[in-house]
Amino acid sequence: MANATVRHISRVGVLRSAAALAAGVLVLAGCGANASAGSSSASGPAPAPAESKGTIGVILPETATSARWEAFDKPFLADALSRAGFTANIQNAQGDVQKFAGLADGMIASGVKALIIASPNAQVGATVEQKAKQAGIPTIDYDRLNTGGSADYYVTFDNVKVGVLQANALVAALKDKPAAEVIQIEGAPDENNANLFHQGQMSVLDPLYKSGQLKLVRDQFIPDWNNQLGGTTFEQILTANGSKVDGVVAANDGMAGAVITVLQKNGLNGKVPVTGQDATLAGLQSILRGDQSMTVFKAIKLEADAAAKLAALAAVGDTAGADTYAKQQSVDPKSGRNIKSVLLDPEVVDKSSVKKVVDAGYVTAAQLCTTDLATVCRSLGITS
Ligand code: BGC
Repeated sequence: MANATVRHISRVGVLRSAAALAAGVLVLAGCGANASAGSSSASGPAPAPAESKGTIGVILPETATSARWEAFDKPFLADALSRAGFTANIQNAQGDVQKFAGLADGMIASGVKALIIASPNAQVGATVEQKAKQAGIPTIDYDRLNTGGSADYYVTFDNVKVGVLQANALVAALKDKPAAEVIQIEGAPDENNANLFHQGQMSVLDPLYKSGQLKLVRDQFIPDWNNQLGGTTFEQILTANGSKVDGVVAANDGMAGAVITVLQKNGLNGKVPVTGQDATLAGLQSILRGDQSMTVFKAIKLEADAAAKLAALAAVGDTAGADTYAKQQSVDPKSGRNIKSVLLDPEVVDKSSVKKVVDAGYVTAAQLCTTDLATVCRSLGITS
């Protein structure tokens, strides 16, 4: 996997563009693209550049379940769609199913050329796909599969592997603690990825629970990936277990942050390994502080590029081109349908490899190395 790491964590320099996009500054050069493609906001889609091939709609699911959607996905998608010559209308449903449906209706009515969606739940995603199909608009499932849906293509990471990486890291951290007590704080029970992460974790952990090498205290899914609820749930489980825990599987960095807050209250942070996912700024800082043991880095630039490429091909009716690009297959667990897919490789990041995420341009040293982290940053060679 070392090679995969080298391959995927390549410099992307997103942050300068991301910050500039947020500020509405013109940064997207080339392809006759218009920088306003990235600044979709409450004011609606940016006007199409003269050479625009049309508008592609993107709806992201939430902001509160992970920092990834606004920090990484949005600017990378804006950039990729703009480079492909399209005007991007990127919105976020803020975890609100009605809002998601409303945004999609608006985009379909306005005649977007394609839709890229990561939905708060699969039902609303599948409904939107049906409406889009009726209107002749191709759809791409982005990161999350809308089970029972009809998306033309799917782009995601190997989500089972995400769980395997998390569990392997936890097992390694607990190798000298026989019968270590583990609490698992998972994602939303009705979100396909959360189940795949769990499946991957269990492929490693279940045999160890059975053999007695590890002891499962509780394995708990958290509705809506609600980070705050993850924290309070973890606190209840911990209290009920006499404040005893040796390791925590937290499904993503947001859950890990909520768990670490509770561990801090109990004087246990830094003593109990906690997993994560998404390589968010807060997650990486927790790793540098020693409170979180790992995160899973997903090269979201590659994911955004692939989704934009498929949307761009499908938008101009180049089905053969899109089919060739989406070489892999995913199976919808609900319908059994095969979906042409692009599947990417996730990678572990721990303290020794945080620098790679900085070098790749996903976060800057200036953002990461707050005063309390200056010494550890220096010792790891992370400098601005
Ligand atoms: C994504 C994760 C994210 C989680 C919560 C999942 O579908 O794959 O990267 O942390 O949703 O937003």
